[in-house]
Order: sequence, then C-alpha cells, then structure tokens
Amino acid sequence: MSIRHFLSLMDLTTEEIRLIISRAIELKAELQAQTFSTLMHNQSAVLIFEKSSTRTRVSFETGVTQFSGNSIFLAPSDSHLGRGEPIADTARVLSRMASLIVMRTGPHERIEKMAQYATVPVINGLSDFNHPCQLLADIQTFTEHRGDIRGRKVAWIGDGNNVCHSWMNAARQLDFELHIATPKDHRPDQNLIKDCSNNIVLTEDPKVAAKDAALVVTDTWSGMGHEKEKEAREKIFEGYCVDENLMSVAAKDALFMHCLPAYRGSEVTAGVIDGAQSVIWDEAENRLHAQKALIEFLLTNSQKTPQ
Ligand code: CP
Ligand code: NVA
Repeated sequence: MSIRHFLSLMDLTTEEIRLIISRAIELKAELQAQTFSTLMHNQSAVLIFEKSSTRTRVSFETGVTQFSGNSIFLAPSDSHLGRGEPIADTARVLSRMASLIVMRTGPHERIEKMAQYATVPVINGLSDFNHPCQLLADIQTFTEHRGDIRGRKVAWIGDGNNVCHSWMNAARQLDFELHIATPKDHRPDQNLIKDCSNNIVLTEDPKVAAKDAALVVTDTWSGMGHEKEKEAREKIFEGYCVDENLMSVAAKDALFMHCLPAYRGSEVTAGVIDGAQSVIWDEAENRLHAQKALIEFLLTNSQKTPQ
C-alpha cells in the first residue's frame, strides 16, 4: 500500500467514488445520531490556503474536529511557503508531523508538487484547474435528491472553469451526459474536452444545454483571480444567467446547484437560487460529509512510506 492523494476525481476509480458517496451519506446520518469516530485522535491536518475560502476551510476543520483530530490553518503569511521556502521541503517537513495536507492554490502544479514530495495524503482544496472536493458533495447531493446520476443529463451554464472541469471528470467517471454552454472563448480546457468527449456536449446556447436536464449548474463568472476583469466578464457572459426562463426548459423536476459564493443578478437570479428547485444549502452542507468520507478513505488506504 502506498499513499493515496486526491488531486482530481481521476485519482479514484468509479467504484471508489461510489463508495465515498455512500459513506458520506452514512456519515451524515451518524452525525445526526451524534455518533463520532476517533479516526484522527492525536493527529493533525495541515490546511494550506493560498486563496480565500469559507466552505472548504470550515468543512475540513469541522470534519477533522469530528474525527477527534486537530487542524492547523496556514495562510501564505503564516508560513515560510509565503516567503519562498520550496514546496518540496515544506511537503517533507509537514509529512513528518501531520497525517494529512489540504491545499488550495492557483497553479495546479503547486498541488502536484506537494503531492510528489508528501508522504501523507494530499487533498486538492481547489486550484485554478479543478475543484474535485466540490464534486463529491455535488454528486452526494444529487444522489440524495434524485438517486443515481448515471445516464442523466446535467447542464453546466457559464464559464468553462475549474468547477466545470471537475464536473467533466465526474461525467466520465460516473457515466452521465454533461452539456456545457459557454461563450466561445471560455470553453473548458482543450485536453480535458478530448479526454471527456464520450460524456460531454459543448454549445454556446444555454437553452440547448438546459433542455430536459435533470440538473442545472452554474458558478461565478469572475472566480478568484479574475476580480479585475469583473466588469468585462459581466458583458461577455450576458445571456448565460440561469433565470426562471432557462429553468423552464429543463426537466420539470430539475434541480439547481451552485458551489457558492454566488452573485445574484449575474450568473443566477435570486428567484432560481432561492427558489424551490435549488439545493444549494444541502450542497454546501455535504462538503462536510463528503470530505469526511474522503479523509477516511485516504487515511485507511494509505501507508506512510518509510523516511
Ligand atoms: N465552494 C467552495 O469551495 O467555497 P469556498 O471558496 O468558500 O471554500
Ligand atoms: N470558480 C470559483 C469557485 C470558488 C469556490 C473560483 O475559482 O473562484
């Protein structure tokens, strides 16, 4: 047994993803029954966040606490990483002390480098390329509301961004159809499009993507790092707002999801995100349960390599 990292949904098999989702649903029930595991007793998780976060940070810290462990949160100014200590050195040092590393950053290669040198599991808490933890929660949420996602039609509307990339990987791992509507210059990554070609359909027309979909998903048009382009992007993405009109072409019982933070009046109307089809609060809560299931899976399927 070696170390299992989670940098992408492709780091797990389809079976393993399914297992983690059902365990997340079980852990949610266990929490409701106030049953706690001591999986991380006397152990630490280090959370390195080079970008802002509300849900990811709080769900990881809470999950680790519920496993009787301790979280150490490091913002760039808190550690020597922010002053240029190499990631490889940081990874080796943290692995001598902690049992788990969660990292949120911009360039995906930084997380890859951390995983290359860490001898404990590394979890991607979001990079500019993908956001796989979000997808575990999203699939859990769909499963709880509608059952198996296999063979269903899902519509992604807006920017072909990091969250969209993880939806694409979810589509190929779990075999559903992902219809992606983006402006021409904001399509997802070319290589990923090729890799996922059996499960995705690209269009520029949100209505074509949303037609009869069981689920409509969107995200902010100006993710972290795009703040300065906010005004220009509002113009580019005009016409990609998930509003009541767009939801009306989806299936009658279609769900709406958004990873949050959301900007009402831009990528989604208040009527949709705060309406009856929206499952965003379950989706946000499930970050906790899905990540606990992920931590449990990674810790029980990894063996610390000798130093
Ligand atoms: N959805 C999500 O990852 O939220 P945060 O940026 O608040 O962690
Ligand atoms: N696409 C957004 C997701 C935030 C959770 C971003 O990268 O900022």
